[in-house]
This record gives sequence, structure tokens and C-alpha cells, in this order.
Amino acid sequence: MTEGEQQPGRIIEMRKNDHVDICANEDLSPGYYYWDDVKLVHRSLPEIDLADVDTSVTLFGKKLSAPLVISAMTGGYDKAREINGILASVAEEHGLGMGVGSQRAALENPELADTYSVVGDYDIPLRIANLGLPQLVRQRSESVLLPEDGRAAMDMIGADVLAIHLNYLQEVVQPEGDTCARGGVEAIRTFASEMPVIAKETGAGISRQMALVLKKTGVRGFDIGGLGGTSFSAVEYYRARKVRNEARENIGKAFWDWGIPSPVSVVTASVGLPLIATGGLRTGLDVARALCIGASCGGMAGRLLPSALEGKEALEREVRMIVDELRAAMFLVGSREVEELVSAQALVTGRTREWLDHVME
Ligand SMILES: Cc1cc2nc3c(=O)[nH]c(=O)nc-3n(C[C@H](O)[C@H](O)[C@H](O)COP(=O)(O)O)c2cc1C
Repeated sequence: MTEGEQQPGRIIEMRKNDHVDICANEDLSPGYYYWDDVKLVHRSLPEIDLADVDTSVTLFGKKLSAPLVISAMTGGYDKAREINGILASVAEEHGLGMGVGSQRAALENPELADTYSVVGDYDIPLRIANLGLPQLVRQRSESVLLPEDGRAAMDMIGADVLAIHLNYLQEVVQPEGDTCARGGVEAIRTFASEMPVIAKETGAGISRQMALVLKKTGVRGFDIGGLGGTSFSAVEYYRARKVRNEARENIGKAFWDWGIPSPVSVVTASVGLPLIATGGLRTGLDVARALCIGASCGGMAGRLLPSALEGKEALEREVRMIVDELRAAMFLVGSREVEELVSAQALVTGRTREWLDHVME
């Protein structure tokens, strides 16, 4: 049976499985490390004790032990229960924020709810529910999700905030994409008037203009999900290649590195709201870089997925290393607290500098 002949719920499950497999096993990055363009200036006299460095931070009124969110990745099929359980247990242990993948599948088929609600079994300081904007506006034949669905998604995991993800790059590349984007701003405004919402990109970044439009809808913050890490264009390229859909394969390749680089988006989307920097962060040093240029917190998905698939211990090792790297960076620029990082000396070079010179003119 081809994907087109499958039941819609089954297609979503297959797609989610494909996404995890591809993200764990294929090279999806655009090959340019924009975060390396952000240089923190070394302070040879830090005048603080490394042991006193405090990585805790408050985000959306919740205290995290480190400025890191495990970004939305999965839910909605059998194996996702185990993956979300591992991610959640490590988020609990290290006091991190955590998002789940799009909950549309469980709203359509309540039997899948426990693949997400497993995260409610853990004491996580910040839980982020997830729905896609394309499902909040009417597509050709499908029904539309309403604010009560948003509340149901939040209740499912005991969430503090709902991320509405913006993923039109992925939708335009994938064969079964929801590409009617009319009414998106209004839909976000309606949801944001009834519950705490953040606008979340998924690998193509948020420009200043879009950040200002989104701010007016009443969102509480952003996850900028910029270019430089997991490229959903690349993910869809691999999916199209598997089913020999040459047209989609070509479009996936052409738009592989489409988007606004993550550090550029951190700067441009800084419009006075909390901002999670996601997209291509690989180390705790990258988290420090993001905070230095104005982010409130870092977010990671692709970097954490392979170790999460390996098991809890592997993921725990990885997260401990990331927090240690962040602590080292804070020490070397003389920041005892996370809030001080923004006044550490940083310079922006390379392609990221070129982007900023043009978009901030
Ligand atoms: C396997 C996988 C599945 C994802 N699914 C979702 C999703 O359902 N909803 C969402 O908002 N973002 C989703 N994302 C996007 C991430 O949350 C994140 O924005 C993006 O991967 C960029 O971060 P990275 O470069 O650290 O991977 C997914 C990412 C991965 C790797």
C-alpha cells in the first residue's frame, strides 16, 4: 500500500517513526556551523570560583537548573512512549524544560495519549505541549483544531505552556503537506487569548518582522528554531528518496539550507519576550553563545536524539557534559550567574555577521 492509500492516523504514525529514524541516522545539517561564528572573548582574570557558577534560570515563571529545554521531538506511536519517558526522566533529574512532539495524533486517536502523557509521571520544571499551526487553520478537506483542543493537549501532559509550531518549510516539501497558511495569525491570536502560547519555528528561524507580528498576537515568547541544525527539508528529502518521489526529493534538496540562521534569529527576534534558542546547538558552549547574544535559554533536539535512543544512561552522560561545558564557558567569561552572560564580551563573525549587517540595517 502506498502512503496515499493509508488511513490518515496511520500515515502520521509512519511519518513520526520515519522522522526519528532519519534524524538519528542521517546527516541533516546544512554543513555550516553558524554558532561557531559567535566568539566569546576570554577573560584571563575571571575573579570567580568555578564551584560558585550557578546555571539556574527562570523561564515562563518556572525555575530550571540549567538554561536548556529538550525540544519537541516525538509522540503518537508505540516507541515514542519509551523515548519520551527517557527524555522526561533526564529532564527531571537535571531540572530541564521539555517539549513533546505534535499532539495532533493523540487528539485524533486518544489511544495514543499515553505516548505523550508519560512525561506527566516526572517532576519536570517546565512542560511544553505542542500543536502545529497548519492544523489550526482550515486545510482543503480536514477539520481544524480549536482552543479546547489546545487545552486538551496541555492537560494531557500537565503543560505550563503550549508551543504552536510553524513548519511551513516542512509542509511545502513533504508529499502530504498542509500548505494552506491563510488565517494563521488570527488562529494564534485566538489560542493566545485563552492559554499561554509560545510560537515555535522548527528549523527555519523567525525574522524581526514576524517576531513583531507574533508579539501582537499575545504570545508569551518564542522558540526561534533557526537554520543550522536539523533541517526538515533534508528529513523530507530522505523520506521522498525512500518512496522514489523524485519531485519531492528535488525540492527537499533545493531547500536543504533554507531559513534564517539560528544566531541571526536570536538577535532579530529579540523583541522583549523570552526566547528559546533552538537550531544546531551542539555543546554547552553553544548554549552560552546563545545566552550571550540575547536568548533566555537554549533548546536541543537532534543532538540529544541518538543518545536518547541508546538509553537513559547515555542521555544522562550527554546532558551532564553539556551542562559542564556551559559552566566552563561561564567561568571563562567571568559570569557567576546566567543573567550575567548577556554582558559578557562577544563578537559575531563570518556568515552570521553578514546576515546581521543586512537584516538589522
Ligand atoms: C525527530 C524530531 C521530531 C521533531 N518533531 C517536532 C514536532 O513534532 N513539533 C515541533 O515543534 N518540533 C519538532 N521537531 C523540531 C525540534 O523541536 C527543533 O525545533 C529542531 O529539530 C531544531 O533543533 P535541533 O537543530 O537541535 O535539532 C522535531 C525534531 C526532531 C529531531
